[in-house]
Amino acid sequence: VLEDEKTEDYLFKIVLVGDSAVGKSNLLARFARNEFYPNSKSTIGVEFQTQKLDINGKEVKAQVWDTAGQERFRAVTSAYYRGAVEALLVYDISRWQTFDSIGRWLNELQTHSDMNVVTILVANKSDLKDAREVPTSEGKALAEAQGLFFMETSALDSSNVAAAFQTFVKGIY
Ligand code: GTP
Ligand code: MG
Repeated sequence: VLEDEKTEDYLFKIVLVGDSAVGKSNLLARFARNEFYPNSKSTIGVEFQTQKLDINGKEVKAQVWDTAGQERFRAVTSAYYRGAVEALLVYDISRWQTFDSIGRWLNELQTHSDMNVVTILVANKSDLKDAREVPTSEGKALAEAQGLFFMETSALDSSNVAAAFQTFVKGIY
């Protein structure tokens, strides 16, 4: 698609999933607006934001979809996943339970998304070193076993946030 030299918009859909409070909305806030909210509220329903990206001198848009981790706030059907080129499966390194849930999120993703969606296991809150419950090696092992990319991020200190959202770019060249 990117061979076309015209000024068309290239829109790439990215979806965020994972348990409540793992930091999905803050990853998006950091990526799209360079903001962080120490006391953010749970997402209700679905929100999305579009962010311009420069890929080898071409302007493309990443449209990031963010939904609630909590079942009661979710309004997700297959429409949420439809057409996504990238999915971020997010857990919180300071809470084991959120890592244990990854299998369920992966199942849901695989049920509803395209076969070739670029999927990244995202270990968020890497800044919380003293509170870490999930070792990096555990995350890496799961990613390897499931054929996923793996990245440790922090929405608080920004580390790896842009890289995580732009992983799909590697797949389109
Ligand atoms: P739901 O919308 O309920 O699914 O939650 P969410 O995954 O969108 O989590 P949210 O982004 O609202 O973040 C939950 C809490 O974690 C907030 O208090 C954030 O400030 C905090 N948080 C998010 N990312 C990080 C991070 O990288 N490091 C630290 N220390 N805190 C974070
Ligand atoms: Mg949220």
